[in-house]
Amino acid sequence: MIGRLNHVAIAVPDLTAAARIYSDILGADVSQPVDMPEHGVTTIFVTLPNTKIELLAVLGDESPIANFLAKNPKGGMHHICYEVDDIIKARDHLLAEGARLAGSSEPRIGAHGKPVLFLHPADFIGTLIELEQA
Ligand code: CO
Repeated sequence: MIGRLNHVAIAVPDLTAAARIYSDILGADVSQPVDMPEHGVTTIFVTLPNTKIELLAVLGDESPIANFLAKNPKGGMHHICYEVDDIIKARDHLLAEGARLAGSSEPRIGAHGKPVLFLHPADFIGTLIELEQA
């Protein structure tokens, strides 16, 4: 059911410092910061030959990564995103298997303008999974 790895997201306490690590030290292609107020994050995209890394920093008071950063003050891997062909079909399959979603069971539009859902880490080996309809 799942297809390509779309991205790995890393929550960071300091976006400028994180961008410098990826651009200057790791030598990757790093975007300018993009504010996503509807998602409560500011994002920098790191483009790799086979996937993307998203560096996520808190934006505003209701950020979904604020708790994570409180528990992981140095930052850390926040979620991984797999592509699916049909997000409703994928959701219905997962629910039928007894898996739980994290947040809404209705897909919402994610950072790339495509429908996404999040799966509960307790059911997926401690990893928060984002599904994105490719
Ligand atoms: Co993501």
